[in-house]
Amino acid sequence: MLLHPATFRRLKRKEIRHAMIVCSCNALREAQVREIARGGVRCEREAYQRLGCRPQCGQCLTYARQLVQEESARVPA
Ligand code: FES
Repeated sequence: MLLHPATFRRLKRKEIRHAMIVCSCNALREAQVREIARGGVRCEREAYQRLGCRPQCGQCLTYARQLVQEESARVPA
Protein backbone atom coordinates (compact mmCIF):
# COMPACT_ATOMS: atom_id res chain seq x y z
CA MET A 1 0.00 0.00 0.00
CA LEU A 2 1.60 3.19 -1.16
CA LEU A 3 -1.34 5.50 -0.58
CA HIS A 4 -1.37 7.98 2.26
CA PRO A 5 -3.85 6.81 4.92
CA ALA A 6 -5.97 9.96 4.55
CA THR A 7 -6.18 9.41 0.78
CA PHE A 8 -6.98 5.75 1.30
CA ARG A 9 -9.94 6.59 3.57
CA ARG A 10 -11.42 8.99 0.99
CA LEU A 11 -11.33 6.56 -1.90
CA LYS A 12 -14.13 4.17 -2.72
CA ARG A 13 -13.43 0.45 -3.04
CA LYS A 14 -13.21 0.49 -6.87
CA GLU A 15 -10.96 3.53 -6.81
CA ILE A 16 -8.67 1.84 -4.31
CA ARG A 17 -8.36 -1.23 -6.51
CA HIS A 18 -7.44 0.88 -9.53
CA ALA A 19 -4.95 2.94 -7.53
CA MET A 20 -3.14 -0.14 -6.26
CA ILE A 21 0.42 -0.68 -7.34
CA VAL A 22 0.81 -3.80 -9.45
CA CYS A 23 4.53 -3.48 -10.02
CA SER A 24 6.57 -1.76 -7.35
CA CYS A 25 9.78 -1.92 -9.39
CA ASN A 26 8.19 0.23 -12.11
CA ALA A 27 5.47 1.93 -10.02
CA LEU A 28 2.74 0.64 -12.31
CA ARG A 29 -0.81 0.96 -11.11
CA GLU A 30 -3.57 -1.51 -11.80
CA ALA A 31 -5.52 1.08 -13.77
CA GLN A 32 -2.57 1.61 -16.12
CA VAL A 33 -2.17 -2.09 -16.83
CA ARG A 34 -5.91 -2.53 -17.37
CA GLU A 35 -6.09 0.45 -19.73
CA ILE A 36 -3.19 -0.81 -21.83
CA ALA A 37 -4.72 -4.29 -21.91
CA ARG A 38 -7.99 -2.86 -23.24
CA GLY A 39 -5.96 -1.34 -26.07
CA GLY A 40 -5.17 -4.75 -27.53
CA VAL A 41 -2.18 -5.95 -25.55
CA ARG A 42 -2.23 -9.71 -25.16
CA CYS A 43 0.51 -10.40 -22.61
CA GLU A 44 1.89 -8.71 -19.55
CA ARG A 45 5.35 -8.14 -21.00
CA GLU A 46 3.88 -6.30 -23.97
CA ALA A 47 1.86 -4.17 -21.54
CA TYR A 48 5.01 -3.23 -19.67
CA GLN A 49 6.77 -2.42 -22.91
CA ARG A 50 3.94 -0.12 -24.00
CA LEU A 51 4.13 1.57 -20.61
CA GLY A 52 7.79 2.26 -21.24
CA CYS A 53 9.32 -0.23 -18.86
CA ARG A 54 10.07 -3.89 -18.45
CA PRO A 55 9.85 -6.37 -15.59
CA GLN A 56 12.72 -6.21 -13.13
CA CYS A 57 12.24 -8.71 -10.30
CA GLY A 58 9.26 -10.47 -11.87
CA GLN A 59 7.21 -10.69 -8.68
CA CYS A 60 4.30 -8.87 -10.31
CA LEU A 61 4.02 -10.87 -13.51
CA THR A 62 1.41 -13.37 -12.37
CA TYR A 63 -0.95 -10.63 -11.24
CA ALA A 64 -0.22 -8.47 -14.29
CA ARG A 65 -0.96 -11.47 -16.50
CA GLN A 66 -4.28 -11.95 -14.71
CA LEU A 67 -5.21 -8.30 -15.26
CA VAL A 68 -4.36 -8.48 -18.96
CA GLN A 69 -6.41 -11.66 -19.35
CA GLU A 70 -9.39 -10.14 -17.54
CA GLU A 71 -9.38 -7.05 -19.73
CA SER A 72 -8.78 -9.03 -22.93
CA ALA A 73 -11.80 -11.16 -22.14
CA ARG A 74 -13.96 -8.03 -21.86
CA VAL A 75 -12.91 -6.58 -25.20
CA PRO A 76 -14.89 -8.00 -28.14
CA ALA A 77 -12.61 -9.77 -30.63
S1 FES B 1 7.44 -5.81 -8.94
FE1 FES B 1 7.24 -5.76 -11.07
S2 FES B 1 9.18 -6.23 -11.80
FE2 FES B 1 9.42 -6.14 -9.67
